[in-house]
Amino acid sequence: MTPLLGGADAEREARLLSRVIDTISAGFDLDRMLQGVAALVTETTETDVCFVHLLDDDGRTLRLRGATPPFDELVGTIELAVGEGVSGWVADHGEPAVIVGDKTADPRYRYIPALRGEDYTSMVSVPVVTPLGHLVGVLNVHTKARREFTEPDVDLLRSVAGLVAGAIENARLHQRLAEREEALERFAEQTMEWQEHERRRLAGEIHDGISQRIVSLFFHLSAAADAIDRDPALAAEQVTKAQELAAAALDETRLAIAGLRPPVLDDLGLAPSLASLAHSFPQLDVRVDAADVRMAEHLETAVYRTAQEALQNVAKHASASCAWLRLTAPPGRVVLEVADDGTGFDPAARTIAPSQPAPSPGQPVPAGPAGTGEPAAGNGDLPALWPTGFGLTGMRERAELLGGKLDVISAPGRGTTVRLTLPLPAAPTAPTP
Ligand SMILES: Nc1ncnc2c1ncn2[C@@H]1O[C@H](COP(=O)(O)OP(=O)(O)O)[C@@H](O)[C@H]1O
Ligand SMILES: [Mg+2]
Repeated sequence: MTPLLGGADAEREARLLSRVIDTISAGFDLDRMLQGVAALVTETTETDVCFVHLLDDDGRTLRLRGATPPFDELVGTIELAVGEGVSGWVADHGEPAVIVGDKTADPRYRYIPALRGEDYTSMVSVPVVTPLGHLVGVLNVHTKARREFTEPDVDLLRSVAGLVAGAIENARLHQRLAEREEALERFAEQTMEWQEHERRRLAGEIHDGISQRIVSLFFHLSAAADAIDRDPALAAEQVTKAQELAAAALDETRLAIAGLRPPVLDDLGLAPSLASLAHSFPQLDVRVDAADVRMAEHLETAVYRTAQEALQNVAKHASASCAWLRLTAPPGRVVLEVADDGTGFDPAARTIAPSQPAPSPGQPVPAGPAGTGEPAAGNGDLPALWPTGFGLTGMRERAELLGGKLDVISAPGRGTTVRLTLPLPAAPTAPTP
């Protein structure tokens, strides 16, 4: 019987563990770390190959993330369900598995051609578990020659796996943080682009619309002043025209402002604003069920804008006859759902990149029905909340920036549900009188 370390002693074990620690402390690049660990394990344990499978976030799939050559090229391409194959069994049971020979006779074994199981005889598979008991993956070693793996061999591999587990968790945390930071940067960039776009839009509206009306207004008032003694009827007519122009200028001013922050939110509150938004899509039968949820203003704006963009997508893309808008507040969260019974689409096929460039600066945004204080919606000529193709991305980035998420559940022919989930800070408890 050959022990794993070929006559290993405590000193060699300690050396292996200390080299593992060096490898896992070298940085936060998870894939490089796993490659390094796999190489180290085969080298020091005198085995022929080492595979590290990590558990996906869904907790149901193991994915090959580290392997020694020649299998390093397969990293990322091999997937196993938990419960499937020896590794799946180990993940499922949280216990090691040792197979000394004749793998095919073991009911747990599943042949994966790319991994060339026929070239290897003996194997050990151990769960990769963090000190807190979270399973993060499975580590396997294989030998070409038959090897009688002993209990100390398995224990040593478990120690290596334990060290790696903590590092994997750290690397994943780090990765998530980096992704969030990147999303934040993208959002900041987009926000600035949009601020600039909005400024130009406002400038355009003031210049082309509002100020032109004020100029006409001035001429009509001058004409009225000139005519007041010699032709009072003409003066009255000019004053009426001036009144109409003043009313139009006022409407345009309100619309220009409405593009910046939905004033209905301040006027009505969130739930009634959502109902009013739904009514602005006359061609759609939108059923609204909105709970009266209290939240900070910026969260209300996020919910409202998401509902607006999602409903515009329904109107633009879904050919739906019915849409549902639901706002609920389970503990600690607020959830907005916009669903439709339309054509649906494949969300995975959508790339992050916008399909078209942003509208050119100063391009006017179509205005809504006068007096509603809202941009037009549902009339085919829709106002741009985001540049074309940025709607879903914009909604998602806004959600992530607020610590929440956006789920898009859709498939061709199955309708679409867009679900925004935002965390709600606990309501401050009322002071005791
Ligand atoms: N409710 C929906 N029904 C069908 N397709 C949709 C729906 N929402 C989004 N889509 C698809 O996703 C794409 C991206 O949407 P979005 O990011 O809002 O960009 P845009 O609306 O400017 O095309 C749309 O072009 C459309 O193909
Ligand atoms: Mg859109």
